[in-house]
Amino acid sequence: MRTPLIAANWKMHKTVAEARSFVEAFLPAVRGLEGADIALCPPFTALAAVGPLLAGSAVALGAQDLYHEDRGAFTGEIAPGMLTELGVRYVIVGHSERRTLFGETDELVRAKVAAAFRHGLTPILCVGEQLAEREAGRTEAVVTRQVEAALTGLEAAQVERLVIAYEPVWAIGTGRAATAADAGAVCRLIRDRIRAAFGDRAARGLRIQYGGSVKADNIADFARDPDIDGALVGGASLDPQGFAALVRAAA
Ligand code: G3P
Repeated sequence: MRTPLIAANWKMHKTVAEARSFVEAFLPAVRGLEGADIALCPPFTALAAVGPLLAGSAVALGAQDLYHEDRGAFTGEIAPGMLTELGVRYVIVGHSERRTLFGETDELVRAKVAAAFRHGLTPILCVGEQLAEREAGRTEAVVTRQVEAALTGLEAAQVERLVIAYEPVWAIGTGRAATAADAGAVCRLIRDRIRAAFGDRAARGLRIQYGGSVKADNIADFARDPDIDGALVGGASLDPQGFAALVRAAA
């Protein structure tokens, strides 16, 4: 069976010093916990500091983005090899904030997913519809398009190791989470599409998280759904004790 993954996306929060104190408080609070994989995705500037603190623990290091080229004149960008050098294991790709605020296209997201796999990183591919798209009944079409575009050219064995985060944009940072029933239905739709395109083994192995206003007091609802394999957590991952409580409630 799939092990759920609870991943913290700190977005543009925490200096190096703040990231260090989070980890010092968080690790003892989740020590010995079984039943869920945990990852922290700090900003790029804190990766080198957080990595060594996580070494030897069950908590993995993740990054929030990467660039799809290995090196070159790409001012401000971070290459996959720069992440693996720091012990990064997961990388968030195609977050809705990247898509909407920074103009990332389906094609760029596809290239980033491929680059992550090329370097042995596990992508956490974010997909999800905007409020207007949901209200227009286009959730299925939007999510299907994003998934199919991002996975073009991948092998079934790669898809089996992939993580997809279904994050309806209207639920992100709003305090208005999707219902577990609605989220579960979209996660099932994604898994069915994966089964059709990449086969049963890939569909059974792929982890699909829900993200969007996940908190310690609603995570258990999502965790009960057999097609939701954990969560990608923003605001509720910033406090070490709060995030530890959330992880415990999910495991
Ligand atoms: O990637 C996580 C995210 O976008 C959800 O944010 O603050 O609603 O948990 P939040």
